[in-house]
Amino acid sequence: MLHDKDRVFTNLYGLHDWRLAGARARGDWDGTKEILAKGRDWIIDEMKTSGLRGRGGAGFPTGLKWSFMPKEVGARPHYLVVNADEGEPGTCKDRDIIRQDPHKLVEGCLIASFAMAAHTCYIYIRGEFIREAEHLQAAVDEAYAAGLIGKNACGSGWDFDLYVYRGAGAYVCGEETALIQSLEGKKGQPRLKPPFPAGVGLYGCPTTVNNVESIAVAPTILRRGAAWFAGLGRPKNSGTKVFCISGHVERPCNVEEEMGIPLRELIEKHAGGVRGGWDNLLGIIPGGSSVPVLTKSICDTVLMDFDSLRDVRSGLGTAAVIVMDKSTDIVRAITRLSKFYKHESCGQCTPCREGTGWMWRVMERMSVGRATVEEIDMLDDVTRQVEGHTICALGDAAAWPIQGLIRSFRPELERRIAEARANAVAA
Ligand SMILES: Cc1cc2nc3c(=O)[nH]c(=O)nc-3n(C[C@H](O)[C@H](O)[C@H](O)COP(=O)(O)O)c2cc1C
Ligand code: SF4
Repeated sequence: MLHDKDRVFTNLYGLHDWRLAGARARGDWDGTKEILAKGRDWIIDEMKTSGLRGRGGAGFPTGLKWSFMPKEVGARPHYLVVNADEGEPGTCKDRDIIRQDPHKLVEGCLIASFAMAAHTCYIYIRGEFIREAEHLQAAVDEAYAAGLIGKNACGSGWDFDLYVYRGAGAYVCGEETALIQSLEGKKGQPRLKPPFPAGVGLYGCPTTVNNVESIAVAPTILRRGAAWFAGLGRPKNSGTKVFCISGHVERPCNVEEEMGIPLRELIEKHAGGVRGGWDNLLGIIPGGSSVPVLTKSICDTVLMDFDSLRDVRSGLGTAAVIVMDKSTDIVRAITRLSKFYKHESCGQCTPCREGTGWMWRVMERMSVGRATVEEIDMLDDVTRQVEGHTICALGDAAAWPIQGLIRSFRPELERRIAEARANAVAA
């Protein structure tokens, strides 16, 4: 279990002052100039050594991503874009970081931008986060007024501008290329990669897109040292992580814990346990709505990190833990997610545009047993024709929950079909 001394987000619950004075008292903006003075290569190497993997869902190593930016600035300026869209159902961590600890993000923006030779950074925050955007803007204004950002930021000689941009609330705008399009004032639609944003990003310039949590932990990593962060969790799955626990638990919460904590311990220690006790557990979606649901027997022992969850054919995703007890109609729950993905498909790719609607309609029938057993295999087959065949990962996100349901709860699907058939015969 994480010791208080290793906590990065020490104001996650808003018990203290979120403004500059409070942030400074908690250690933010301490020695930022000295960190910048160590140079870009040092910062990027340190981030690589820390083992930090992106907190936006895909878990791509952050230091490595930063190193993909061109070493020298050519004719095109470099940009950092921070992804504060937080659209994945179940996920509400970036919101609390911004609301209660905005200076961690602002300081992280300066350091990360400097490391990638970007004089400008945009934070793209979802439109619904009204109070959060206010806090963030206030923190940005305070940092400008104190000379921490702006011309000669922190007295480092580096000029740095930071802008907060409010999105309009489409899930797909969280996908990095759609986010860039939206930031440019265009319709937020993903585009094929390559070229990756590090080559052709915002306004056609080298750009890195990172999640809020990835950027907000960077200053603490650089202050305390990569070895400290790498010493928490397991190799390639290091550090601390903010988990969002929701659903059928006694006390839903956000909590920062060590990566690799057993799922059961996470829930029992911080969320008061499953409603009605652990044995009342039906299943858990461990990483936001797009990852496959886990059965109780897997939840009994699985560890909460990227590789452990991949090994059980699910994923850490955004670390949004959605707990479902035995009162849950699991087929209806997954059907509801299918409806969400159908609604959020931007419509560019045929497999996603047509497939999400098709899958949702079949799921609606499955939830009341109005289907045949053969259709379960057909549905599984269709998910595989969508998965990996689209421009962005929304297609995968729509396919995986259904695959997880079929893999783990197939007897329940078959039971409903048999029951509906028996009722029809009796009538
Ligand atoms: C449909 C879709 C929605 C996404 N939504 C978000 C989001 O809300 N926030 C986020 O940080 N990443 C989101 N991502 C992932 C981003 O594309 C990108 O990988 C991430 O911002 C990179 O940050 P990281 O390397 O720090 O994890 C989404 C991806 C897809 C395919
Ligand atoms: S996969 Fe879906 S959301 Fe992504 S680009 Fe294609 S149609 Fe749009």
